[in-house]
Amino acid sequence: MSTKLVIVILLQAAVAVLAGVCLIPEPVKRQRSLVNELFRRQPRLDGRIVGGHRINITDAPHQISLQTSDHICGGSLISKEWIITAAHCTFGKQANQLRVRLGTSECSRNGQLLNIKKIVQHEKFNYSNINNDFSLLQLQEPIEFDETKQAVKLPTQDQEFKDGDACYVSGWGSTQNPLESRDWLRQVKVPLVNQEDCNKKYSRYGGVTDSMICAGYMQGGKDACQGDSGGPMVNGDGVLVGVVSWGFGCAMPNFPGVYSRVTHVREWIKEHSGV
Ligand SMILES: *[C@@H]1O[C@H](CO)[C@@H](O)[C@H](O)[C@H]1NC(C)=O
Ligand SMILES: *[C@@H]1O[C@H](CO)[C@@H](O)[C@H](O)[C@H]1NC(C)=O
Repeated sequence: MSTKLVIVILLQAAVAVLAGVCLIPEPVKRQRSLVNELFRRQPRLDGRIVGGHRINITDAPHQISLQTSDHICGGSLISKEWIITAAHCTFGKQANQLRVRLGTSECSRNGQLLNIKKIVQHEKFNYSNINNDFSLLQLQEPIEFDETKQAVKLPTQDQEFKDGDACYVSGWGSTQNPLESRDWLRQVKVPLVNQEDCNKKYSRYGGVTDSMICAGYMQGGKDACQGDSGGPMVNGDGVLVGVVSWGFGCAMPNFPGVYSRVTHVREWIKEHSGV
């Protein structure tokens, strides 16, 4: 389904308990964690909004669904022909294997399904610690904006965001009910977390780098999951602060979601897309 690097296994028990909580992205480095060593599991791509609520695409008209044969990741329109998503969503893929569905609240129907001309994956993306988890996608043809399709505002390079500021993450996650086939866009509100605090929480997993920013609740358990990988995290002014990237578990206490920090690559975005 949707994507984020995920830990499976033991967390599944926690997931069931936390009702509706997703299997969240697992940083690849946790392949070396005890759990992964024990079970020899590969992380898999997954992720879904937890504790959020349904929204319409008109509430987040920058939101797109990145697809192969099915929805794999989120992304955000930054202009009529460019989209920003996570590098781990495009890793190892060719432009002709990917499609973008936009202008719809449902990732499997309506709106438009478009081809991609070019993938620009960040040249310093590191799959082992998920550093610089950014990719740009160029659509085959520019689209027309309307109430269901709009570019998200990008931050300036030196824009600063305060700890505790409310942000909004959106995406399509499958519910755990296979009978529910229509996946509607969801959103959850999460506060930004102090960088140092987040780094400490993740120290045994290598910490967070300057290209990352954290958001979520330290107490976990509620409204603490982010959306699909590659999808948007915007602040109250609608500025794209982060791109959904990774985390340990979902809504787990002490493990906020980790996002790619957009200010970190503001110049790079401009250089490759002109936006
Ligand atoms: C979505 O849009 C429809 C039609 O405009 C409206 O009736 C509905 O309340 C909206 N849902 C949400 C969650 O905003
Ligand atoms: C990627 O990250 C790992 C873990 O931090 C590091 O050991 C490695 O040198 C990095 N690779 C590159 C090419 O920077």
